[in-house]
Amino acid sequence: MDLIFESERLSYRPLCDADIDLSIELWTDPEVTRYTADRTFTAEEIAGEMPTVVRRCAGGCIGIWCVIDKSTEEKLGSVFLLPMPVDKDDTDWDMVAGEQIPEGEIEIGYILKKSAWGKGYATEACRRILKFAFEETPLEEIVAVIDPENIASRNVLEKSGLTGEGLVPAYTTTCPGFRVTRRQWKQGGSQRG
Ligand SMILES: CC(C)(COP(=O)(O)OP(=O)(O)OC[C@H]1O[C@@H](n2cnc3c(N)ncnc32)[C@H](O)[C@@H]1OP(=O)(O)O)[C@@H](O)C(=O)NCCC(=O)NCCS
Repeated sequence: MDLIFESERLSYRPLCDADIDLSIELWTDPEVTRYTADRTFTAEEIAGEMPTVVRRCAGGCIGIWCVIDKSTEEKLGSVFLLPMPVDKDDTDWDMVAGEQIPEGEIEIGYILKKSAWGKGYATEACRRILKFAFEETPLEEIVAVIDPENIASRNVLEKSGLTGEGLVPAYTTTCPGFRVTRRQWKQGGSQRG
């Protein structure tokens, strides 16, 4: 399975140790973490987590990709397919190891640095990862959850063909949930990556 791919303006490859600069830029910015974590993280905390994250990173059919601007080679953010945490508030990394897709629902998510917002990149990346999921893996459906106030993310999901399904349990709470099945994705030709 090829885990390196492209879309119109972006390229994607599994996150690696050298992406620590990107991770620090993302996770120390309060505007970026506003809807994704209850706080920012220190560079030391991020460096401590990085080996675990990278070890599990897109090692199977799912994981975390670094999103890169093809024209400048600038790292813009990351996009992931990971097991949806329900009773936990973080990824169960044990489930991501190995060359197989874990049981349970697989969530799509994306985080871009602020300078990359508002240019359609998240929508482009979300569509491309869905294309990967439905063309390259046996996944039958992909889910997503958002903070109810995260209008930008809601727009990204709806423009990528996911449909809202009301409040769902996730991350030890309930939040607006979204879903797209393989069949729906195939029918929504215009939303393909
Ligand atoms: C959410 C996020 C990924 C959106 O990235 P983006 O590249 O700006 O998204 P897009 O440019 O593809 O925008 C998607 C749509 O949302 C709209 N939008 C963007 N920001 C918006 C905002 N703050 N309020 C309302 N609409 C917004 C865009 O106009 C676009 O709609 P349009 O094409 O009809 O104009 C980005 O803001 C981000 O990384 N935020 C921090 C992390 C995060 O919240 N991730 C999602 C967790 S669920």
